[in-house]
Amino acid sequence: NAGGSLYDRIGPDALAALVRAFYARVAQDPLLTPIFPDDLTLTAEKQLAFLTGFLGGPPLYHERYGHPRLRARHLPFEITPQRGRAWLACMQGALRDTPQIQADDARELFAALSRVAVHMVNAQDHPA
Ligand code: HEM
Repeated sequence: NAGGSLYDRIGPDALAALVRAFYARVAQDPLLTPIFPDDLTLTAEKQLAFLTGFLGGPPLYHERYGHPRLRARHLPFEITPQRGRAWLACMQGALRDTPQIQADDARELFAALSRVAVHMVNAQDHPA
């Protein structure tokens, strides 16, 4: 299970487990719950489809929903740098919750998501 894409190395089951662990954390995060729907079922399905293609697996999101246009899709939500950090912290925690994903794969995945997350930020932090 060494070569190939990050998707090949992680595998569909561990990726699905990661997405479940991620939204379990999002659902508990006081910075994130205000902008996410109460029922995260469809959100999680779309994220799993997106990450499958993003990591080098089959392009499930594109097949099911079309071009992701991620930045545009996030514009309706106020995504401050602080919320960006909260999102990434949920992902970091979810990676810890998913030991099936090897440490070096987890690091590579987190680095890739960190680069994308920067581009989702569309608002300034509120003054303290
Ligand atoms: C959808 C927040 C970063 C991928 C969403 C939604 C919110 C959100 C509120 C809508 C949920 C719904 O209505 O179902 C955030 C925040 C981020 C962030 C606060 C912090 C920077 C990212 C990143 C990625 C991503 C880095 C990709 C690697 C997606 C996808 C969807 C989504 C694929 C579903 C789009 C759809 O409705 O088809 N996000 N997001 N997000 N996000 Fe993010």
